[in-house]
Amino acid sequence: MILVTGAAKRIGRGIALRLAREGARVVIHYNASEAEARATAAECGNARMVRANLERVAEIERMFQEAGPLDALVNNAARFTTMDPLQVTEADWDFIHSVNLKATFFCCQQAARAMLARDGGRIVNISSLGGIRPWSRNAHYCASKAGVIMLTRALAKAFAPKITVNSVAPGVIPFGEPDQRARHLIEKTPARRAGTADEIAGAVLYFLTATNFVTGQVIAVDGGLSQK
Ligand SMILES: NC(=O)c1ccc[n+]([C@@H]2O[C@H](COP(=O)([O-])OP(=O)(O)OC[C@H]3O[C@@H](n4cnc5c(N)ncnc54)[C@H](OP(=O)(O)O)[C@@H]3O)[C@@H](O)[C@H]2O)c1
Repeated sequence: MILVTGAAKRIGRGIALRLAREGARVVIHYNASEAEARATAAECGNARMVRANLERVAEIERMFQEAGPLDALVNNAARFTTMDPLQVTEADWDFIHSVNLKATFFCCQQAARAMLARDGGRIVNISSLGGIRPWSRNAHYCASKAGVIMLTRALAKAFAPKITVNSVAPGVIPFGEPDQRARHLIEKTPARRAGTADEIAGAVLYFLTATNFVTGQVIAVDGGLSQK
């Protein structure tokens, strides 16, 4: 059983659908997007659904109890905002970090406690190109995703050898018409195009099926943009 957080829509949905197609049983986590989560769960063979606001550790603990025993966890849920760092308030900072970094850590902790008591498992954290490259109007977001990358590396050591912890760092993955910021990044991408949810899912699948000799790693799936 594989829990995918933020699986109702967009990249999380793409990951859940791909894993289900590969024969895995998935659990669909969502918060606000109940109707979309139902649709994704139906397409994943009537998968189990769990609702939780990941800002709260108590909700994370309840979510893991409801999800049942897991072989793997994909931490995909996140928030993104763009703003001048001079204008970022404490609330703006907490809005991003409570989900992107704090929830990712406590989801890893919950999963690992249960996995270490059983046969081990696999954890994949979705970070971002923004955790590798500095974006001046996303400093708060970039810091959260750089944190996800360091969590991945430190927890890979902490949970070895029974659990692997790896990260996929997406580049630009638009849904609908890309905005000006995304268009600018796509123009600079060596692959000369944006990516798709299924391309992110392919990298997730690799980490989920790799041996425990692959841990603490980050794959940028970004058309080469991190090399610029
Ligand atoms: N799209 C891109 O171009 C891109 C680029 C780089 C990295 N990424 C990363 O890839 C992952 C998926 O990206 P995306 O664009 O598909 O994400 P998204 O649509 O912005 O968010 C995914 C889901 O996160 C869930 N979420 C947000 N806050 C939550 C909270 N407090 N509690 C529980 N769930 C919460 C939402 O679930 P509900 O809708 O159910 O509330 C949302 O549907 C993220 O980690 C993102 O940072 C994306």
